[in-house]
Amino acid sequence: MLALLVVALGALAVAYAIVVPRLEARLVDAKLDQLEKDSRLVAANVPLDLTTEAQSFAEEVSNERGARVVIYQVVSRRPLLLLIRGDSRVGSSLDVERNAVVRRAVATRRSRRGTLIKEDQRFAEVASPAANRQAVVVLLRDSLVDPLSSVQFVKRRLILAGLIALGVALILGYAGASMHARRIRRLERAADRIAGGEFDEPAVDRGNDELGQLAGAFERMRARLENLDRARREFIANASHELRTPLFSLGGFLELLDDEELDEPTRREFVKTMREQVERLTKLATDLLDLSRLDAGRLRLEWEPVELRSVAQVLADEFRVLAGPGGHRVDVVADGDPVALGDELRVLQAGRALVDNALVHTPPGTRIAIRTWADGATAYLSIADDGPGVPPEHAAHVFDRFYRASSDLASGSGLGLAIARELTAAMGGNVTLETRAGQTVATLVLRTTPAFSREQTDGVFT
Ligand SMILES: Nc1ncnc2c1ncn2[C@@H]1O[C@H](COP(=O)(O)OP(=O)(O)O)[C@@H](O)[C@H]1O
Ligand SMILES: [Mg+2]
Repeated sequence: MLALLVVALGALAVAYAIVVPRLEARLVDAKLDQLEKDSRLVAANVPLDLTTEAQSFAEEVSNERGARVVIYQVVSRRPLLLLIRGDSRVGSSLDVERNAVVRRAVATRRSRRGTLIKEDQRFAEVASPAANRQAVVVLLRDSLVDPLSSVQFVKRRLILAGLIALGVALILGYAGASMHARRIRRLERAADRIAGGEFDEPAVDRGNDELGQLAGAFERMRARLENLDRARREFIANASHELRTPLFSLGGFLELLDDEELDEPTRREFVKTMREQVERLTKLATDLLDLSRLDAGRLRLEWEPVELRSVAQVLADEFRVLAGPGGHRVDVVADGDPVALGDELRVLQAGRALVDNALVHTPPGTRIAIRTWADGATAYLSIADDGPGVPPEHAAHVFDRFYRASSDLASGSGLGLAIARELTAAMGGNVTLETRAGQTVATLVLRTTPAFSREQTDGVFT
């Protein structure tokens, strides 16, 4: 508002400073030009006998030209006669001395001009020597009030314009400032709400300007925080639920074990189930810890060459032990010696989650193949099974945390694929799952580098 005011007034002040003095100078000059022309004309016609005719001549000229006429006759540098609009009197040399214009005209014998202020009024005067009369000088004096009235007019108009500009600047400035202030305050309230954990009310501003863009950024932040907040709540709810189920079951078995009349085989059965629940809890606790580290970005990773062929072998060996005589068959198909870049333990952990799925979510008798290969800068480890696969309606969600496509008891907490994917993402890779009835392939996609190509690793790492 202040800036608008200063600009408006500054512009007017500059206009005033440029226009008014120039206009005034021009008008005064024009008046002086006209007076000079008149005074020369009068000087050329001054009557010969000044004592008798000068008075009526001066009066006549005065009426005709509208200007005051004074005729000086200087004898021996003394003015003899002084006529002012009919008043005739003999003046003294002082009269000549007093008037600078007359003095200069007498001295130079040329027309001289000037302005003076008398009784608060400005006058223009021109003194011209009479052409053929050595000692006579005619002075014409006229008020500058009329010609300068247009200057007054311009001044008044400029001041009026200034006042109007001032008013407009005030109104516009105030309106603009208060509108912006209102929008900023609305954004501020939105920020406060977000800071206070209320994410339901969107931050809106329909403006197209920077404030509008800021509000847009706020809104994106709010939406993202809302999602994060929802994910956090869901995570806590899911995690507590997952923890509670085995804990309840453990509590139930403990009570049953208290029964004195329990026969030995039943007791052993109970203890076995309890051990399984404890294993499940331990696994869940480890998974949750990994997830929280992944979320906080505090997962420590070793960067080392990982030979996928040996990873596949370790997985197959573990798998055979787990599968037992259940009837799952496993083959390892290694194509070359792909070397990935990452943390071997974490690659094993992710691979284990995939193998676990191929074991848990397929019926006995299923064939499972673990393959490894490399393609340019990418190394692959895939686990394929010919089980029933994931139903299409679930396929899009299997990588979500706690998401389970089947509700069979063998299922884990739904964290396996989520952790596998996040772990490999931390190593710059990915996990993909292609599934249809009869064929499911889960693949670890990992980075490799030319530095870890076979030729170089041969001597160093094997
Ligand atoms: N090889 C597979 N065959 C069939 N279903 C699978 C396979 N792998 C994953 N799934 C489905 O995807 C879901 C998510 O897998 P995962 O994240 O490992 O959780 P969990 O194994 O703990 O249930 C599983 O519940 C399962 O229904
Ligand atoms: Mg699993």
